[in-house]
Amino acid sequence: MSIALVILAAGQGTRMNSDLPKVLHQIAGAPMLVHAIRAGEPLEPSRIVVVTGHGGEAVGKAALNYQPGIEIAVQDQQLGTAHAVAKARDALKGFEGDVIVLYGDTPFIRPGTLEQMQAARAAHDVVVLGFEAADPGRYGRLVMDGQNLERIVEFKDATEEERRITLCNSGVVAANADVLFDLIDGVSNENASGEYYLTDIVGLARSRGLSAGTVTCAEAETMGVNSRAELTVAEGLFQARARAEALEDGVTLVAPETVYFAYDTAIGRDSLVEPNVVFGPGASIESGVKIRAFSHLEGCHVSRGGVIGPYARLRPGAELAEDVKVGNFVEIKAARVDRAAKINHLTYIGDAEIGEEANIGAGTVTCNYDGVLKHTTRIGARAFIGSSTMLVAPVSIGDDAMTGSGSVITQDVEPGALALGRSRQVTKPGLARRLFEVLKKKKRDQGTH
Ligand code: UD1
Ligand code: MG
Repeated sequence: MSIALVILAAGQGTRMNSDLPKVLHQIAGAPMLVHAIRAGEPLEPSRIVVVTGHGGEAVGKAALNYQPGIEIAVQDQQLGTAHAVAKARDALKGFEGDVIVLYGDTPFIRPGTLEQMQAARAAHDVVVLGFEAADPGRYGRLVMDGQNLERIVEFKDATEEERRITLCNSGVVAANADVLFDLIDGVSNENASGEYYLTDIVGLARSRGLSAGTVTCAEAETMGVNSRAELTVAEGLFQARARAEALEDGVTLVAPETVYFAYDTAIGRDSLVEPNVVFGPGASIESGVKIRAFSHLEGCHVSRGGVIGPYARLRPGAELAEDVKVGNFVEIKAARVDRAAKINHLTYIGDAEIGEEANIGAGTVTCNYDGVLKHTTRIGARAFIGSSTMLVAPVSIGDDAMTGSGSVITQDVEPGALALGRSRQVTKPGLARRLFEVLKKKKRDQGTH
């Protein structure tokens, strides 16, 4: 069965009080919209349509940036959720299969829940995701008739009795594409809001002899984000879930509540994460890695046996092989570091390749940027880079070579060679003592202390 996801993201989100469209506000380093798309990804959708409106250009861009195959449908005027889904019709021309409608501002629907909805489609033409609301507030109410869903009534249109129903509409709907668009054609806007309600398709389906049913999920999954305050609550929920999953997956978190994960952080079993570690997007950590306190990692890969930090920063393109050690105040960007290399103190490595078992001394800098272009530094296996070496790229250091401390290396160094790029030391016996005397006298003469 082919699946198409239709993600509604045209709403304005006035309560965010922001120039940024609501669905582009981020949770764990990814726009809410991306979270909504990812919830549907395990169903392997053959098509994904994002319906945009307010801030449509930026929303479309973000969707394509996440996945170039996504189709964008434009809803110029927000006339209601059924009207929004109808805008996806052209993009889905010729598509045969099921449509699942999701909201771009509802980031926590679990893939397993959508799988249950798909399974429920075997029994019902239209499947709606419901939840028992602690405070049903203004949610649409699911009016049941035994195991079947009879209709959905919006809060504004509900009677007192209907408002007492606590089973609420999450907004997620699954139906065959042709059936869905046929039903939507029958939706009118004669209701309290003057909107085309997607929820009306349930009553319509029943009146046409089709069946409708529900799948229910925990209320937390259906949480929508409408304000900055709710965004921070959502972030907190995401982090709590990510920490619990990491522990479950066999990762030790010494102080879980101080570790921040990105939406896509992957950490292998028996890794240990010390307090106050932050993961940005794109970090993958293999098993048996130790990440020490106050480190920041994004867009990087750390292989088995690595020890990172404390106070280390791995930036995008840092690719670390097994047993690499990266110590305090070290920054690594766009660099491949081979097995068991050590970069332990106060160092910047950018646009570089570092051979296995190389030792990079404290304070080393790959001078990769000439103000206009970036250049590469290559360091061979077992090379020893003396403390405070400036490697002016492009430059290569051969296998088993050495550089003297404080060198500025501007020319390639052949394998096994020692390169010294610094001025020779001059020592003047007794001169320090004499200088001190002169200076102290000066201070006395000035009468200052
Ligand atoms: C909707 C449901 C309600 C449900 C609630 C769950 C309808 C009529 N009502 O109400 O039953 O309990 O969600 O949160 O469907 N959107 C568009 N274009 C539009 C209108 C909305 O793209 O023309 C998008 C919004 O950006 C949002 C989503 O659809 O992501 C839901 O719209 P919203 O206005 O929040 O619907 P609710 O009134 O909350
Ligand atoms: Mg809403």
